[in-house]
Amino acid sequence: MARVGIGVDLGSSTLRTVRLKTIRNGLVVLDYGNFPVPSEDVNEDKRLKMMGRELRKRARKRGHLAVSLNSQSVIMRLASFPKMKKSEIESVLKWEWDKYVPIPRDEAILDYHVVDEPILGESEGMQVLLIAAKKSDVVELLRITRLGGLRVKTVDVDSLAAFRALDFLGYLDSGIGQAHTVIDLGLNSSRVSIFAKDVPVMTRGISTGGMDLTRHLAGQGYDLEEAESLKCYKGLSEDGKVRSVLLEALEDLFFEIGKSLEFFLLKNREYRTPNVYLVGGGSLLKGIHEELREYLDRQLVQRLSLDYGILVPQFKWGSNVRFAKGKRHRDMVSSDYLTAIGLALWKEADR
Ligand SMILES: Nc1ncnc2c1ncn2[C@@H]1O[C@H](COP(=O)(O)OP(=O)(O)OP(=O)(O)O)[C@@H](O)[C@H]1O
Ligand SMILES: [Mg+2]
Repeated sequence: MARVGIGVDLGSSTLRTVRLKTIRNGLVVLDYGNFPVPSEDVNEDKRLKMMGRELRKRARKRGHLAVSLNSQSVIMRLASFPKMKKSEIESVLKWEWDKYVPIPRDEAILDYHVVDEPILGESEGMQVLLIAAKKSDVVELLRITRLGGLRVKTVDVDSLAAFRALDFLGYLDSGIGQAHTVIDLGLNSSRVSIFAKDVPVMTRGISTGGMDLTRHLAGQGYDLEEAESLKCYKGLSEDGKVRSVLLEALEDLFFEIGKSLEFFLLKNREYRTPNVYLVGGGSLLKGIHEELREYLDRQLVQRLSLDYGILVPQFKWGSNVRFAKGKRHRDMVSSDYLTAIGLALWKEADR
């Protein structure tokens, strides 16, 4: 029987849903859609009800349902333990909680995975990936989905979901020394997650998001709506005022991305090819891939004597993604949907 998964990516500005089934050579998107999250000016009750209503319409269908949690509110840490049985890990965590998780124990939800072979450095002992979230964040998420009448099976971290989608769709090159950096360009912030051998080894939040670009443009005499559409329509594609203002607004973001990569590469010299993948709404900015690649090449490649330039590939939907008959707008499903797709693939990954 075909496996059907539903992914609900509940972002700060946009709620995206994807329903898909996996087939032998890829996946078929059954339906997808997005809904602008009502602004915080709207009364809280009304806001939640509006989101609930949308969810009811879009995601209350048959399938394994997974919802995203923003990686900025999640702690992911690769911890080193002496070799021990899985059952013993629990007691170490119990006694040494504060050493590993910076959220009080009774306010946290913790998940952990033993990593098969050491990822970074040491070969003695074992490495355990700890993933902790605040209970209150998860409760809030479930409150919204409950209003939509949904029965959530999985709560997952958005960056892990995006990585899963990239992997499933065959975008990740798994050669020796490859590290994969997923950068989620969201509304008010961006998140950098570096993966080594499929494990997130470093995550970092950056305080620049798409809204900062819009505000920067608005500072040039446009109103916010005009600035938003100029940004989306023109992006960095044409020389002129829009491009130069946007580039200026991107400076901090590029600098922080560069610093994160540099930190990782200096500490882990066996990883020589740090491919960078942009996801989230901000990744739709025209020309951002080329601009980021040039920046990183200029700043890092020679200085760190990397083997190759840094790849910042743009996504093209390959033959392994199909659309259910009669669905149009196939080009609307793009890098801003990768998190929702990865969520819908959760069950597949768990098999
Ligand atoms: N074509 C485009 N060109 C440039 N920017 C775009 C484009 N489409 C969307 N964006 C920007 O993407 C940003 C929102 O990104 P996204 O939808 O990934 O955020 P979110 O998932 O709601 O938020 P978060 O993940 O931060 O909680 C907005 O600032 C929006 O202007
Ligand atoms: Mg998002």
